[in-house]
Formats: sequence, structure tokens, C-alpha cells
Amino acid sequence: AKERTFIAVKPDGVQRGLVAEIIARFERRGYKLVGLKLLVPSVGLAKEHYADLSSKPFFKSLVEYMTNGKAPVVGMVWEGPSVIKQGRVMLGATDPKAAGPGTIRGDLCLSIGRNICHGSDSAESAMKEISLWFGGRGEIVDWTSN
Ligand code: CMP
Repeated sequence: AKERTFIAVKPDGVQRGLVAEIIARFERRGYKLVGLKLLVPSVGLAKEHYADLSSKPFFKSLVEYMTNGKAPVVGMVWEGPSVIKQGRVMLGATDPKAAGPGTIRGDLCLSIGRNICHGSDSAESAMKEISLWFGGRGEIVDWTSN
């Protein structure tokens, strides 16, 4: 019943000052923020996160871009009804040129390689990604919202 997803603002989103905008959209929708961190991911973390894409021609540059430290990533865990599916709807299509207006990508970016955010695409990915990005004690907070 307590559905959770992993949403990240990627380095281009942080660089462009879009962290607050992305958080605000999830908050206003009514989702609950239960995990939040700013980090430059290690190469190992980025490779594991994008393991499904390891055979793609852009994999190497994707991992380099996520980990080069020119800007950090904001990792978040959001909780609420259908948050995995609705989070993806709110982000819009992976390729911003196909993302509808009103979505984060559809409103704020144009390039698939610089699509400013990431969201888990299934319950399995959400579980994997949350445990990958958030591990330490107390990093995810169970709190009550009214
Ligand atoms: P994301 O939602 O983080 O999931 C995988 C990422 O790979 C995707 O967003 C894009 O940033 C990136 N990606 C997907 N397809 C391409 C592509 N054709 N060229 C470059 N990057 C891509």
C-alpha cells in the first residue's frame, strides 16, 4: 500500500537550477518526500543504476556525465498512491521531444541526453534504485502527513 519511487534530478537539472521546481511539482501533487540527498555518484553506483542500458552505445558517456562532478545529482524517494506510474507521467517521455506540455521534461528540456530527471520505471526498478541510492541508517524517514 505504501508505494515508493526513486526520482533523481540529474546534473543538468541541478546545473540549471531546476531542483526546487521538480520538488515543488511532486509536493503540490500531494506526494510525500521520504528521502533526499545531494551527491556525485560513484562510477560503480551509476553503472549499477543504469545496468539495463549497459549494451547501449551511449552507456559510457551517460555514466561519465552522471559521475564527472561538474554538478551533483539530487536523489529522492517519493511516497504515495501510484507514485511509480504517476511519477513517470509527471516527468514525461524520456525523449523530451516526445514529452507533452505540462510534464517536467515537456516544459523544461529538449535533449534526450540532457533530460534533467530520472524516475523508476517499475516496482522492481523502484525497489532496486531506492536500495542502491539510499542505504544508510535513517536516510529514509517514515513520517506522517495529514
Ligand atoms: P533516464 O530516465 O535517466 O534513463 C536512461 C537515460 O539514458 C535517459 O534518461 C537518457 O538521459 C539517457 N538516454 C536514453 N537514450 C539516449 C540516447 N539515445 N542518447 C543519449 N542518452 C540517452
